[in-house]
Amino acid sequence: MLVLGIDTSCDDTSAAVIENGTTILSNSISNQSEIHKKYGGIVPELASRRHIEMIWPVVNEALKTAGLSCKDLACIAVCHGPGLIGSLLVGCSFAKALCYAKKIPLVAVNHLEGHIFSPFLEKTKPDYPFIALIVSGGHTCLYRVDDFGKYVELGRTRDDAAGEAYDKVSKLLGLGYPGGPVIDNLARDGNPDAIHFPRAYLPESLDFSFSGLKTAVLHYVKSEMSPAIKDIAASFQAAVVDVLVRKTEWAIRKERIKRITLSGGVAANSALRQKMLKMAEEKEVEVYMPSVSLCTDNAAMIAAAGCHHFKAGNIAGLDLNPVAYLPL
Ligand code: KG4
Ligand code: ZN
Repeated sequence: MLVLGIDTSCDDTSAAVIENGTTILSNSISNQSEIHKKYGGIVPELASRRHIEMIWPVVNEALKTAGLSCKDLACIAVCHGPGLIGSLLVGCSFAKALCYAKKIPLVAVNHLEGHIFSPFLEKTKPDYPFIALIVSGGHTCLYRVDDFGKYVELGRTRDDAAGEAYDKVSKLLGLGYPGGPVIDNLARDGNPDAIHFPRAYLPESLDFSFSGLKTAVLHYVKSEMSPAIKDIAASFQAAVVDVLVRKTEWAIRKERIKRITLSGGVAANSALRQKMLKMAEEKEVEVYMPSVSLCTDNAAMIAAAGCHHFKAGNIAGLDLNPVAYLPL
């Protein structure tokens, strides 16, 4: 079964073709970082305009790389939220038009569900149930996943998402957008114990909070004559990673499930991957994470989740509308 996935939820225009829900035949992404870099964050209007320019070339490239045409597709899976409404509209309108013109079934996929299914694109796949930690620019949440379509939210951020904290700290340090990869790189040469930044563990809860940490970095930078950027990066990163790993450990204990997945853009972080693997080894827990290129937004994960929906008969109408705040 061949599924074309489309994701335009944020600032990446992406299209991918997946076979039988797990084998990637193509995964094309047009990244907009260059456009948004000078603003220190995504400018929604510029993102939508760039999606309009890139959607057809990217879909065309995905089909061409897979050596397929529309008539080979079982369905088209499109991300309809959550995300930036103008960006989502481009992907949804394009997918609806293509489905209508080529008489192909349409499937709607929640972006978070896509992230949950990204580890299934790797060779070794998790069994159910598992604890899913999604850490991205827009979300930081823990779910218990009992099966496809059976998700129980265990915790979520009360303010900033982890990736958002990375991006905001990067902006205040003058390091540009996106902040995650830059801080990750700088932190390799910094001392994580140089500055003690606060960790909001929020006892009794699996929720997260990163806004206090961001403010603490701001106060530190303002109070220092010549702040050591590498040490700030490493110390900030240590605070984020400590909280993410500790909370995942709590979720494992609470739910008595010794299997975890890690996904979303921040899952590409080298320190988080290392620390999560170490914790998993100590606690004898199985851990599954997608390769770094499948952590950040991509349409392969949308196609993977879309394949399950198609098999379950969840076909969307051509009146499908995107939703900016779409719960899982
Ligand atoms: O999943 P994603 O591509 O988009 C959303 O769904 O939000 O995640 C993007 C986020 C950005 O905030 C970016 O700074 C962060 O992922 N990110 C990282 C790394 N690579 C990307 N954060 C920490 N370390 C990284 N290596
Ligand atoms: Zn995402």
